[in-house]
Amino acid sequence: AKERNYEFDVEYIYKKPDCLEHVVMGINGQFPGPTIRAEVGDTLVINVTNKLSTEGTVIHWHGIRQRGTPWADGTAAISQCAINPGETFQYKFEVDKSGTYFYHGHYGMQRAAGLYGSLIVDLPKSQREPFHYDGEFNLLLSDLWHTSSHEQEVGLSSAPMRWIGEPQTLLINGRGQFNCSLAAKFVNTTLPQCNFKGDEECAPEILQVKPKKTYRIRIASTTSLASLNLAISNHKLLVVEADGNYVHPFAVDDIDIYSGETYSVLIKTNQNPTKNYWIAIGVRGRKPNTPQALTILNYKTISASIGVRGRKPNTPQGLTNKTNSVFSFIPNSPPPITPLWNDTKHSKAFTKQIISKMGTPQPPKFSHRRILLLNTQNRIGSFTKWAINNVSLTLPTTPYLGAIKYKLNNTFDKNPPPETFPKDYDIFKNPVNPNTTTGNGVYMFNKDEIVDVILQNANQLHGNGSEIHPWHLHGHDFWVLGYGEGKFKPLDAKSFNLTRAPLRNTVVVFPYGWTALRFKADNPGVWAFHCHIEPHLHMGMGVIFAEGVHKIRKVPTEALTCGATAKMLLNDTLH
Ligand code: C2O
Ligand code: CU
Repeated sequence: AKERNYEFDVEYIYKKPDCLEHVVMGINGQFPGPTIRAEVGDTLVINVTNKLSTEGTVIHWHGIRQRGTPWADGTAAISQCAINPGETFQYKFEVDKSGTYFYHGHYGMQRAAGLYGSLIVDLPKSQREPFHYDGEFNLLLSDLWHTSSHEQEVGLSSAPMRWIGEPQTLLINGRGQFNCSLAAKFVNTTLPQCNFKGDEECAPEILQVKPKKTYRIRIASTTSLASLNLAISNHKLLVVEADGNYVHPFAVDDIDIYSGETYSVLIKTNQNPTKNYWIAIGVRGRKPNTPQALTILNYKTISASIGVRGRKPNTPQGLTNKTNSVFSFIPNSPPPITPLWNDTKHSKAFTKQIISKMGTPQPPKFSHRRILLLNTQNRIGSFTKWAINNVSLTLPTTPYLGAIKYKLNNTFDKNPPPETFPKDYDIFKNPVNPNTTTGNGVYMFNKDEIVDVILQNANQLHGNGSEIHPWHLHGHDFWVLGYGEGKFKPLDAKSFNLTRAPLRNTVVVFPYGWTALRFKADNPGVWAFHCHIEPHLHMGMGVIFAEGVHKIRKVPTEALTCGATAKMLLNDTLH
């Protein structure tokens, strides 16, 4: 095991991710941020310096459980103070499980502004993955708006709310095309055909493969809003990993991926090697108004003399020559059609196929506590909010971790939020009383308590409809026990999957449905559990879990305070 050191300077930079210039958040001048690659057992030491001139920042390591280092979770107002402009905060934590992860800003809407990058943890050299592959690619998916995240934030917090709308562009590894289309000749569009030299910031990274091999494609979604579907023409996808956990392998033509989720799929390059193939990503779950993101799978037998621009991680063969034109790689048939946005049957069929790989630890047979969380859209005056059991989360000014550890119990609501919702609530109707309140109370768990959470979806505020919410838990993987239609009934617990329950850190709640999960509160800390859709979280769609906080030995003062005077005063009080 090694210590791996990184210096991350977080700043606003000009970039052309979709061929138009925008201000995005970058790290060390890069967007997306640098890929972190480590081995199980390594310690990552990442010095994050805030080079934004007028706002704080933090970075969350999504999917890393932070066992023993809850202060390094990178959640502003939860695990630490936001890092002030000019200051450096050191994240130091062990990566204890292999898999595909990513990192992102967790303050305001900085993820939507582009603060994200990939984090990949490999098995130690001495260990083998339970499947074979000859090379790998990494695809980090995101969505881009032409309005700034600040403007989006103001819109969401205005009365009446101004919704952010659908993204202008989908990005693959920070690259997409807004003013041209790679598939212009096949799709109904007025956009011109893209014709890249290859060194443009918005030129697609082409995946170059050799025939008759197996490749692992890692896919992570850090979208702000979009639920996505990915397909590769003519190639089956064998799903082998989800959120850093092995799953029972299953083959599909396309995968759904919600914000906060990661997958690994294996593809066999067993198709006609003289052709090129599309990799297409499209929007699901909301009526799309965003073109597909496209890139190309290229068998190295063709046009090998031309070569393609690509960064190392995406060219296992290390091909880095420049191309004359991406145009020469355009396949000669249309890209795969994304399944209809509202084909929830298709989504459910995919999601329900995910079961754990044989031999994965299974959930305890019983839980000590069951919490039902009703997801609703509500109002406070003429503001629009999302609420959980009629409480809309607004974070306190003092980070919970320090507040709970040092018993500063006046810094957040004394009463824990409700563990259930009124029995007669009709989830198929608009809320009868749409008024909600803000709150910042905490669900407190005893160390090692076995907790079941039932996420209950409902009809939205106006009109008919129920949205998709991908819920993400910090500090844990949880077992997904099942999904159901309509309102959860105690008898539904009889059908929980307790034998092949997949471990995940993000799980979707389907429209008008419920999702059940189980975890063991064995990781002392304060953990956010929230919808991973950035505007939903911003509008209050989250809760706070605290477990065994008194068992945490040392929290670095930097996580609790800011600046030298604060540290000095803190030292005076504590000693
Ligand atoms: Cu990736 Cu709290 O989120
Ligand atoms: Cu949501």
